Formats: sequence, structure tokens, C-alpha cells
Amino acid sequence: MLRALVMTAHDVDLKIINAKVPFVSEIEPNNLVECGIAINDGLIEQVAKPDNLPKSDEVFDAKGMVVLPGLVDVHAHLRGLNLSYKEDFDTGTMAAVAGGITTVLDMQNTDPPTINPENLKAKKESAKSKIVADVGFFSSIPDDLINDLPKMIDLGIAGFKIYPLHPYTKYDIYDRDTVLEAFLKLSGCKLPICIHAIDVSSKSIKSKNKGALEQDFGSDEITNFLNKHPPELEASAVKFYSEIAISAGVHIHISHLSSLKSLEIFKLGLKHIRDKKNGLFKITADVSPHHLFLTKEELKRRGAFAKMVEPLRAKEDNDILWHALKCGTLNIVASEHAPHPKQEKEKSFSEAPSGVPNLETMLPMMYTEVLEGRLTYKRLIEVCSENPAKVFNLEKKGMIREGYFADLVVISNTNEKINPDNFFSKAKHSPFDGRIIKAKPYATFLRGVKVYEDGEILAKPGCGNIIRPFH
Ligand code: DOR
Repeated sequence: MLRALVMTAHDVDLKIINAKVPFVSEIEPNNLVECGIAINDGLIEQVAKPDNLPKSDEVFDAKGMVVLPGLVDVHAHLRGLNLSYKEDFDTGTMAAVAGGITTVLDMQNTDPPTINPENLKAKKESAKSKIVADVGFFSSIPDDLINDLPKMIDLGIAGFKIYPLHPYTKYDIYDRDTVLEAFLKLSGCKLPICIHAIDVSSKSIKSKNKGALEQDFGSDEITNFLNKHPPELEASAVKFYSEIAISAGVHIHISHLSSLKSLEIFKLGLKHIRDKKNGLFKITADVSPHHLFLTKEELKRRGAFAKMVEPLRAKEDNDILWHALKCGTLNIVASEHAPHPKQEKEKSFSEAPSGVPNLETMLPMMYTEVLEGRLTYKRLIEVCSENPAKVFNLEKKGMIREGYFADLVVISNTNEKINPDNFFSKAKHSPFDGRIIKAKPYATFLRGVKVYEDGEILAKPGCGNIIRPFH
């Protein structure tokens, strides 16, 4: 008995030693400290100098590499079910952990779509034996909202998604009264409502933008595509949903905010919160790696392999999004991993589907910014791990802190080109194909279990948990 007590007091399941762990602050945003991490029962028990760590039979030598909190990705399309030829819960989450992402929130636009408790249950059932990262699920706002909301909350829904470009339920319709009705019914449930900001009602703006685009791109399929999705339509949707959210007092989250124009409207929402005009209204947003690193010029170079909605924008949009991310106006980077097979992307530009894979490129691209001195460790951790967990109420996620889940990524330095042939994702292509990265995940731990090391998935399918937000 005494021995058992001594064992539990001193021994832990795993120790990571020789690690560089960020101890960052406003004053020292790049401060890395050599220390170790003791892990027990899936939780971080202690972060300390080696001599002060408890004993453990299992030791992982990080060999001086940097250890960060596993990334929390709040926007990925893991597909599965009838779309599993594009991606499935195993390949999608393998791609996630190979990319240093330990928690993924999956989008609703699947087949069958996540639109009611039955479909959500079927998706969870299919996912649970396959996932190797922790996964949560978004849903469309169900048609039978009053009856289904409590059931969806019971099933642990991560939040709702409005997708007016492809309506799944009556609440995807771009109509003020309908959206207000939904928001009023959702107010009080504290779940974020993600918005694909696109004004599908407007025709006038499209033609206003046409002339300028044709000068840049000529009158072809790419021009037509960009012309259908100008920044003005994104910005007017941000305004439309913000105003309704203010009236109803709900939390809206703008997904993949891509342009200067939308950012300006988004900032008005933030000002509304600062002025404390309505205590219940909240607005947050994320930005995707492609909108930070790539411009619409990439469409000329790569065609449909750089096609996504919202589309790539101009250099000035990239610059302002980076600025907003660094100064704290934007607080989350999300992958918007939207996998489609290479053969589908090889079709003509108009026929090819929109969306690009990103789970395996997001951290290497962002971390390279740190190594090249354009981003601090502090901000990298905040926007990729800490803030997504906070905004979506994911308990004990996103930080290296005692009592938090031991979701960790060990990073090695490299100097190589992104090669989509090596992706675990079924989508073996990328708009970042050939880009030099200076760092990549070496090993990934999920609740203390090593799930990925040096190019290999070590996880048993189903070792990931289906997670729910903390209310
Ligand atoms: O480009 C996109 N692809 N945008 C979306 O909103 C959906 C996504 C997909 O599911 O492929």
C-alpha cells in the first residue's frame, strides 16, 4: 500500500526530456527554456528542469527540439461517409497529427450533411473507431431547431455553421428575418455560430467589380470565378450577420476572413463589444494560411490547385491580414483543410471543386515565419493553439500548462520543399507545393500518447476522442 502511494506520488507515465519549451511573455515573446515535461494520465503534470522531474519508465528525448502545444484547428473538412473517397476520418486525422494538429473541428458539408441529431450520431459513429486526433463536430442550424437544439447540445456539438452558398437547411438562406429567428432561438446556448461570409443576394456588386478584374486576368474562367466572389460580397455578408447577431445577442465566428474590406467591418463588431453596447454579442474570426501566404496571382500559376472559396485575394489583403493577426485584431489561424482528389482538381477550372488541403502545411508554413523572425513564438502559440481552444471552449487544450492535456508537438528544423506526395491526406496536391519550409513536426503526442514520429503514424485507429465544448 505504502509502495503504491509512493509510486503514484513520484512516478509518471512519460517524461519528455531535453526539450525547449516556450515560456513567453509580452516582454520575452521568444523565450525558450530548456526543460522537461512530466505526463501522467494524459495530462501535463509538471514542466520543470530535469532534476526536478518525477521518475518515469518511459522517456522521450526531444534532443533539444522545441515543444509546442498541439495545434487546435477549428475549420477542417474531414469528410468521411459518402465522401470518404475525398478524405476519411482516419486519413484526415493522420494528416492532422503529422501536421502537429491534435484537435480538429470538422465541418458540416458532408454527405449526408450534419444537419440534425440523427446525421450527427451517424457521423460520430463512423468517426470514433478511425480518428487518431481529437475531433469535434459542427452542424448546420437544424430545421427543427427548437426540438433538435437540446439533442445536439447533448451530443456535444462544437457549434453551428451557416453556409449560404450551399444551403443545407432553411437557416442557410440569406434572409434577415430567417437568420434573426435562428439567432434568437440560439441566443443563450453559448455555442458559436460560424459564418461563411458570402452575400448571395447581391448582383450589383459583381458587375461593379468586373472591369477591374478583367484588366488583371483577362476575360476567362478564372476572372469569372473571382468575379463571382469579390471581397465586397464577403464584406457585405460580415455586415449582414454582425447586425443580426448584435440584435439577437449571439456569438458569431467569421470563418476564413480573407479581405481588407471584411476586416474593416469586422473591426466595427469588435468596437461594438469594446463599447459594451450589448453584453451577449460576440464576434471572432479566423484566417486561413492560403489567405496569408498566397495572392490571386497564384491562380494564374496553379489554376484549380489554388481554387477555393473565399478565393485568394490581392497582396494588400495578405499584408493587412498579417498585420491584424500580429496586433491581435484577428486571433485564430485555421486550416480550412478542404480535400479533393487530384483528378478532380485536374478538370477544367470551372468544373474543378473549390478547396485545398492544409492540415500538413499549416504549422510548417507558420513556424517558418517564426524562424525567419516575422512572427513570435508567443503569437504562433496564441493563434494556432491557445485562442482557438478558448474561443470554442475546449477545456484543457491549447497550452503547455500543468493540468492541461498533454497534446504536444515536437518540432525539428529542416530546409526542404513541401511535397504533397508525402501527405497522409488523400488530397495529394497543394497550392504550397514546392515552397521551402524551415521546420516540420518531428513527433506529436495526443494526451500523452505518441501518435506520430518521424514520418510515421504510430497511433491506433480510434485513439482520438470525440470532444465536446465545455459550457
Ligand atoms: O473552397 C471551399 N471548399 N470552400 C468551402 O466553403 C467549402 C470547401 C469544401 O468543402 O471543399
